[in-house]
Amino acid sequence: MQITPLTGGLGAEVHGADIRNGADFLPLFEAFKAHSVLVIRAQTEVTPEDHIAFAARFGPINVNRFFKPVEGHPEIATVLKEKEQKSAIGEGWHTDHSYDEAPAMGSLLRAIEVPPYGGDTLFVSMAQAFDTLSPMMQRFLEGLSACHSSRHVFGAAAQDSEATRSGRLRNAEAATQDVRHPVVIKHPFSGRKCLFVNPVFTTGIEGLSEAESTALLQMLYQHCQQPELQARVRWQAGDITLWDNRATWHKAINDYHGFRRYMHRITVEGCKLDGVSA
Ligand code: SIN
Repeated sequence: MQITPLTGGLGAEVHGADIRNGADFLPLFEAFKAHSVLVIRAQTEVTPEDHIAFAARFGPINVNRFFKPVEGHPEIATVLKEKEQKSAIGEGWHTDHSYDEAPAMGSLLRAIEVPPYGGDTLFVSMAQAFDTLSPMMQRFLEGLSACHSSRHVFGAAAQDSEATRSGRLRNAEAATQDVRHPVVIKHPFSGRKCLFVNPVFTTGIEGLSEAESTALLQMLYQHCQQPELQARVRWQAGDITLWDNRATWHKAINDYHGFRRYMHRITVEGCKLDGVSA
């Protein structure tokens, strides 16, 4: 198995692994902990059952409430854009399930059908995002908490979106999650400090006025989008990319109109997140 870093600070590409092989799990898990994003190439023979079995090695599977499930496999969420559709699932920078009390540890996305060009996924290192802030800003953020919600994304407000009308997203009535997390978390694996706010699900910072909260979040979001903090995954059918939701943001690049992109995603349960003073 060859594991090659994708960038100076985030992600690695894996060749020569087979997710069906139990002996490959430990080196893959170690690489996952070290790099936060792992692109495992050429898993072309993998079935939905193999995907589920591999995901379950990381922890219990968290069944997504809102994505259309794969028929016969409720553990697998469909991430699909048909060639006539305009919007893609996950186009905004986000962290999967940050609206949950215990946000999903990680997500494992398997490429079934990819467009001839485009449709990459971008990632940001939230540990590097924290490390590259000034010490004064770091100290200020360490004392703060932020609210995250599913309501404005998957609830009634989303009812009229293309994704809902086409059946890709569902269960708006289940979008009832509002939760509070520290703005800076202690990463459960590494203990590293990671920023934990994101543009899609974070609704505000506690204890600040709306104007202050908006200004602070905008500054942080701009900071996080520096190319130096990013890694980009160019997909091939058969690849499986897994990412650590506590250490990253991600975004699906929607630049392949007229082509189909079809992925299967499984999310793995996480834990309640501690702030840095815990
Ligand atoms: C997601 O946001 O989970 C999907 C990312 C992608 O389709 O690249």
